[in-house]
Amino acid sequence: MQNLKFSGPRKSIQMQTLEKILDIKYPVILAPMFLVTTPEMIKIALDNGISGAIPAMNFRKDGELAKTINEIKQYSSKAFGINLITNKSNRRYKQQLKEILDSAPAYVISSLGNPKELITEAHKVGIKVFCDVVDLKYAKKTEDLGADALIGVNSSAGGHCGIYPPEELIEILTQNCKIPVINAGGVTSNKDLKQLMSIGAAGASVGTVFIASVESPVSAEYKEALVRYGKDDIVLTKKLSGANTTVINTDYVKKIGTKPSFLELLINKNTFLKKSAKSIITKTGMNKLENAAFKATYKTFWCAGISIENIHKIKPLAEIIKEITVGNQ
Ligand SMILES: Cc1cc2nc3c(=O)[nH]c(=O)nc-3n(C[C@H](O)[C@H](O)[C@H](O)COP(=O)(O)O)c2cc1C
Repeated sequence: MQNLKFSGPRKSIQMQTLEKILDIKYPVILAPMFLVTTPEMIKIALDNGISGAIPAMNFRKDGELAKTINEIKQYSSKAFGINLITNKSNRRYKQQLKEILDSAPAYVISSLGNPKELITEAHKVGIKVFCDVVDLKYAKKTEDLGADALIGVNSSAGGHCGIYPPEELIEILTQNCKIPVINAGGVTSNKDLKQLMSIGAAGASVGTVFIASVESPVSAEYKEALVRYGKDDIVLTKKLSGANTTVINTDYVKKIGTKPSFLELLINKNTFLKKSAKSIITKTGMNKLENAAFKATYKTFWCAGISIENIHKIKPLAEIIKEITVGNQ
C-alpha cells in the first residue's frame, strides 16, 4: 500500500485549470477515442469552447496525421491535442512522434508506456504533454519527467479504465503531485464536472457520452446500443488488446467470453510466434483465426464506459457539450 497524503488539510495553492492551461472557454477535452474521435468532431469541440484530442492511431498512412493537424490548425486557432501510445505495442510510434513534432498541436496526451522521449522532444518545440495515469506511482514518475499535467484515468472511465473511483483518484493525485490533474472517467453532466473541480480537478476529459452524438462516425447500431444498455451491462474484456477494456455485454461478447483464450495469449505475448504463425497458417486458417481473435475491433465490440447510464438519446455534439459545460439551464 502506498503511503498517501489523502485526508489532510487541502493545499492552499490553487492548481491551474484547463481553461487557463489551454486558453479555452470551458475546462473540458473531447477525449481521444480510437476509431471514434474525428477531426470533424474536434472542430465542433473547438467551436463550442472546449478542446479535443485525436488518437494518432486513427491514421494508418504516413503523412495523414500531420496533414490533419495542419488542417485543424488552419480551421481554428484554438488548442487541440493528439493522443500518442508510447509503449512498444505501437509500431508506428517514431513516425507518429515525428509528424506531431513537425506539425505541433498544442498538446499530446500520452498513454501506456514511458513518455520520457515524448516529453523531452515535445517541450523543445513548445508542445505540452499530459500523461494518462491510473495511480500515484506512475503519476510521480511522469511528473518527474516533466509532464505538464496528469490525466487521472479512474475506474468509471471508458476504454482502458483505472482502479480508483473518480473522487479518490483526484484526491490522491492532487494531494501528492504539484502539476494539474485532469479527470478522465464518469463525467456526463455539468454537475459531475463541478463536483470534481470542487475537489481540485483541473478539468475533465470526456469520452463515452460523445460517442452517442449525431456527428460521431460509429454505426447506428452502436449508437442505439449506447441508448438501450445501462451501466450494469458494461463488462471488462481482455479480448481487444490484452489489457482490460470496457465493452457493452452484448450477446456476441457473452458468446465469446471476456478472457483471452490460450491461443490468443500465446500469440499476443510472443512477437516471434505472432510472425511465424502468420507465415505457417494457411490463408483460410488465418482468416478463421483473425475472425475469432483479431477482427474484434470497436466495430464489433462496442466499447463504452459506465457513463452509458446517462445516455438516453442521440444528440448533436454541440448539445452534449453544452450539457457538460453549462448544464441544462
Ligand atoms: C470507444 C473508446 C475508445 C477510446 N480510445 C482511446 C484511445 O485510443 N486512447 C486513449 O488514450 N484513450 C482512449 N479511450 C479513453 C478516453 O480517452 C477517456 O479516458 C475515457 O473515455 C473517459 O471516460 P468516459 O468514457 O467515462 O468519459 C477510449 C474510450 C472509449 C470509450
